[in-house]
Amino acid sequence: MKNILVTGGAGFIGSNFVKYLLQNFDYNVINFDKLTYAGNLENLTDIEKDPRYTFFKGDICSEQDVEKALTENKVDTIVNFAAESHVDRSILGPKEFIVTNVIGTQVLLEAARKLGIEKYLQVSTDEVYGSLPEDKPELLFTEKTPITTNSPYSASKASADLLVNAYYHTFKMPVLTTRCSNNYGPYQFPEKLIPLMIAKAVDGQKLPVYGDGKNVRDWLYVEDHCSAICEVLHKGKIGEVYNIGGNNEWYNIDIVKIILKILGKGEDHITYVKDRPGHDRRYAIDSSKIMKELGWAPKYQFDGGIEKTIKWYVENENWWRRIMKGEYLNYFEKNYSNKM
Ligand code: NAD
Ligand code: DAU
Repeated sequence: MKNILVTGGAGFIGSNFVKYLLQNFDYNVINFDKLTYAGNLENLTDIEKDPRYTFFKGDICSEQDVEKALTENKVDTIVNFAAESHVDRSILGPKEFIVTNVIGTQVLLEAARKLGIEKYLQVSTDEVYGSLPEDKPELLFTEKTPITTNSPYSASKASADLLVNAYYHTFKMPVLTTRCSNNYGPYQFPEKLIPLMIAKAVDGQKLPVYGDGKNVRDWLYVEDHCSAICEVLHKGKIGEVYNIGGNNEWYNIDIVKIILKILGKGEDHITYVKDRPGHDRRYAIDSSKIMKELGWAPKYQFDGGIEKTIKWYVENENWWRRIMKGEYLNYFEKNYSNKM
């Protein structure tokens, strides 16, 4: 049986991925996570007793932690989700993004090289391609779109991608990279658009929409991202990049209105606030490579996925209420006080 190290497995996508692996494959899964503000072991209570699952508390920037986890667990495969992932926090404080996302990736790559890991998959993002013009809807990000980064977050993720590529060319490392569009689904930290708007709508509070609300994001249900990563891991061509997306573009304001409608709430709490600095206007992914070459297709339609997500947040109020206090409130104040 293969031993797979999933870094960032206590975060939103990582925890969904750990469960997806255990449900669909025979892997021993080692969840390696530092448990930053975004890491939450509550996301994994339903599988924590599975004998194929192990948790290792560690930092991807620590050579010692990484080598210990890899050798102790005889790891042969690494999937790297661990990152600082929120654009707004990268604007408030870029340094942690460079440390975790760049140095952390290099530490993982170096340990993987030293220990002869069989496969390394880097979970990247469509944000490395910059922003698409809104007046050319036919334009999509392909794997050949030049890297153009506009936020400290996207710059750090792109730097990590370049390192992965360098390790492939220089050291012939068996690497793969995926670049996905915006995910939504259960266990997403309530600083991101969809869970934040659900929480604010449930509580009858202001829903802060940046700028004119006409920025476009391409939304994919998290389980579809997990299935795509598995296809790339199992069938992808070493050294290559695969885009992942749902062909599902929406204006932010329409997402907010859909959430309010499903929750049976009016639109009077929608509040347009000062825009995010450097706000990318439009993301849209061309997934034809992964669809044609690896036979992947998303399973969820947006209407079903968003209903399922909202239902989960309504039924798991305690999960997000426990998060939305303490440090979270300090962050909220810092990010929104000069916007509202
Ligand atoms: P998240 O913020 O919910 O989770 C990140 C996880 O990484 C947390 O569990 C955190 O504790 C852990 N972590 C952070 N620093 C660490 C460190 N130094 N060592 C070990 N663990 C550490 O993020 P997410 O939304 O689940 O995103 C996961 C990955 O997917 C990221 O690499 C992100 O760039 C990428 N991605 C996210 C999206 C999205 O829409 N959320 C889309 C495309 C790609
Ligand atoms: O595209 C993939 C990326 O998607 C991932 O790489 C990132 O990790 C992930 O955080 C996400 O980045 P975005 O910046 O697109 O996601 P966020 O949920 O922060 O914002 C989505 C859109 O909603 C964006 O245009 C900004 C807007 N927004 C966001 C918040 C939090 C608002 O209008 N109001 C808000 O309060």
